[in-house]
Amino acid sequence: MPIPPVETAAAKAVRGRGGSLTVLGIESSCDETAAAVIRREPGGAATVLADLILSQNEDHAPFGGVVPEVAARAHVAHLDRLVRQAMDKSGLDFPDLDGIAATAGPGLIGGLLVGLTMARAIGQVHDLPVLPINHLEGHALTARLTDGLPFPYLLLLVSGGHTQLVIVEDVGRYARLGTTIDDALGEAFDKTAKLLGLGYPGGPEVERRARAGNPERFPFPRPMVGREGCDFSFSGLKTAIRRAAQAAMPLSDRDIADICASFQAAIADCVADRLRHAMRAFTSRYPEVEQPAVVVAGGVAANAVLRQVMLDAAVEAGFSVSIPPLRLCTDNAVMIAWAGAERLAGGLLDTGTTNARPRWPLDPHAAPAIGAGVKA
Ligand code: KG4
Ligand code: ZN
Repeated sequence: MPIPPVETAAAKAVRGRGGSLTVLGIESSCDETAAAVIRREPGGAATVLADLILSQNEDHAPFGGVVPEVAARAHVAHLDRLVRQAMDKSGLDFPDLDGIAATAGPGLIGGLLVGLTMARAIGQVHDLPVLPINHLEGHALTARLTDGLPFPYLLLLVSGGHTQLVIVEDVGRYARLGTTIDDALGEAFDKTAKLLGLGYPGGPEVERRARAGNPERFPFPRPMVGREGCDFSFSGLKTAIRRAAQAAMPLSDRDIADICASFQAAIADCVADRLRHAMRAFTSRYPEVEQPAVVVAGGVAANAVLRQVMLDAAVEAGFSVSIPPLRLCTDNAVMIAWAGAERLAGGLLDTGTTNARPRWPLDPHAAPAIGAGVKA
C-alpha cells in the first residue's frame, strides 16, 4: 500500500533536522491577515523567526463590526505578500520548512479558504505536509510556546468571536467546560461601544472611558452568576445597557463613563464567577496536579480590570496565571505555526482531508450550551 506523501515528508523532516521543526503558519479566519515562521526544538523550546500581522480594523470600522466579504477580499489582496515577507524575514526558503500550518476553522469561510488554499498550493509545490489547524487550538497551545506550560491546564479564551473555558489535556485533546450561550465577551464590549457611539473595536475604548466612571451607578445584571456550570451569557446585559442609555439620553461624557464602568464591573463579576466554577471542575478532574494553572487568551485579556479580577480569583484558588503577551493573545499566525509544530512533533498529521469549516468545536464531545447560537 503506498504511504501517503504527507507522512513521508514529515518523517524525513524530523529525521533530517535532528528533531527540530520549522513551520510556516497562516491565519486568516477573521479580520487579521497573518503569517509567521517558528522553530520548535525537540524539548519544546521555541524560536519565533518571523511574525507578521496585518489588521483590517480600518476596513471594518465604518461598519462597526467585521464584514465577511470585506475580510475575504482583504486576505486575498495581502496574504501572498505577507507570506513572502515572513519567509524573507526568517531567512529561509520554502524547502527549509518542515510543514505549513493554516487555520481551517472556526471562522469566516471566505478567509479560511484563502489561507488554506495558499498553504495547500505551497505544500504541493514543495512536497511539504499541510496542517489544517483549529484556530482555538492555536490559542489553547500558545502558553506552551511562551511559558513551556505542561499539560493539563485550564484555558479561558475571551475574544471577539469566542468565550470558552476549556481543559487543555494534550495536543488534540480538549475538554470544554463552558461556552457562551449568546454573545462572545469581546462582542459584548463591541456592541456596548456601538450603542454608546464609541469606535470599533469597542473593547479598548470602553475600558478607557470606564476609568473615569462610577462602576456602581448602574446596577446591571450579572447573567449566570451563581448558576451551576461554566457557561456564559451576555445578551441580557446588552439589553440592560440599551435601556439605561435610552433613559439617560442625551448622554453626557459622565453618563458614558458611568455606563462603561458599570458594564465592566458586571462583566468582571460574571467572569470571576465562571472562572471559579471552572477551577473547581479542573481540580476535581485532576486532583493530582500540584501546581494548576489557568491561561487567559484572546483580545479581551488586554483589559486591565478583567486581568486583575481573574488574577485574584486564580490566586485565591491556588492557581497560577499565565497570560501570553498581547500580540500572542490576540489573533496571530505564530500560534497557528506553533500548533502545527506541536502536531508534527506528536505525529498528529492530517492526510489532507480537513477542509475549511466555519464551525469546528475543539471538544467534539462537549454538550451544546442551552439556547446556544454560538460560534464554536
Ligand atoms: O482575539 P481578538 O483580537 O480577535 C478575535 O476576536 O478573535 O479579540 C478582539 C476582541 C474585540 O472584541 C475587542 O473589542 C476586544 O477583543 N478587546 C478588548 C480590549 N482590547 C480588545 N475588550 C476589552 N478590553 C480591552 N482592553
Ligand atoms: Zn482568536
